[in-house]
Amino acid sequence: QELQLNLEQIEKGGYEHFMLKEIHEQPNAVIDTYRGRMLVNEGIIRMAGVDDHIEKFLNANRIIIVACGTSWHAGLVAEYIFEDLARIPVEVEYASEFRYRNPIITDKDIVIAISQSGETADTRAAIQLAKEKGAFVFGVCNVVGSTISRESDAGAYTHAGPEIGVASTKAFTTQITVLTLMALKLGKANGNVSASDYHMHLQELALIPEKIKASLTSDAHIQAISDIYKDSANFLYLGRGFNFPVALEGALKLKEISYIHAEGYPAAEMKHGPIALIDEQMPVVVIATKRGHYEKVVSNIQEIKSRSGKIIAIVNEGDVHVKELADHVIEVPDTLELLSPLLTTIPLQLLSYHIAVMRDCNVDQPRNLAKSVTVE
Ligand code: AGP
Repeated sequence: QELQLNLEQIEKGGYEHFMLKEIHEQPNAVIDTYRGRMLVNEGIIRMAGVDDHIEKFLNANRIIIVACGTSWHAGLVAEYIFEDLARIPVEVEYASEFRYRNPIITDKDIVIAISQSGETADTRAAIQLAKEKGAFVFGVCNVVGSTISRESDAGAYTHAGPEIGVASTKAFTTQITVLTLMALKLGKANGNVSASDYHMHLQELALIPEKIKASLTSDAHIQAISDIYKDSANFLYLGRGFNFPVALEGALKLKEISYIHAEGYPAAEMKHGPIALIDEQMPVVVIATKRGHYEKVVSNIQEIKSRSGKIIAIVNEGDVHVKELADHVIEVPDTLELLSPLLTTIPLQLLSYHIAVMRDCNVDQPRNLAKSVTVE
């Protein structure tokens, strides 16, 4: 028993929980994801799974992404990135819905299955169906040798290292990294990304690990904010564009480990319903980085403020405008809009972590949840 405990302590590397360790591992996890793949000075992205099937990708009618939970959120971010950089139409489906709804799939479609564990039953069934219909299946998995990685026609590992905490953190950021590399590579190959834009994206991507590190320095500040809102019954998360899926992911993180009801919405949808929920009891987390429809988000913040909602805003360093309106701001460094989810998601992970710890929840093994859902 004691030996077991000591072993776990060692595995946690000095952190109180695996989740916290994994949050802090993200700068290195992202480096591991693009190590050997992204050669910035040479201007090369090397991904065997894509290179070997480049014609299939370039001739694809569309990409269908299938996944569950956090991996599905990474898929939503990827939809924005692929369409922006590679101009290939993308649909993102819950694997559990896709598998049962007689979807229209042809051999001109590429199905990308995203799964940390590579064992999720619904995602496995979705790729089975896609294969039967003749689609090319590309797996983005973390666990090497997992079932989905073996059952896919090709793929790319995220190389995030073992993720023990049930709440997915580094799997999410590394999935987005892999998918961004793919979109950039395809965008360059099909002529939608100019040589200069391509280089600029590579250079920015190379800066992301340092910027994640900078985002992690807000930890104590986020802990203080967590203490104020830890007893709230509900939370609302809002984001737009590339950061809309980050709002969904932030809400999922809070729900699963702290058992607080939370909902994520595209910020502009607020006025179509959720605004009715806002009062002085409602903390609203708003992603308000300056490159993503900033002015629009500011007016959403004003709408929340005029209804006495409590605003926790994720802003860029040096922001002045949102600072005047929000109750709390958490800063992240500036980056390209399409890379911003890799930074804005960090404070949301820390917020859910600290709130869960303060509520005495079992952070690494939340009730009713399993790390990989291998049954329906
Ligand atoms: C994330 O925090 C969850 N625990 C869960 O949503 C998870 O992402 C989902 O079950 C999918 O798992 P997979 O990536 O291993 O397929």
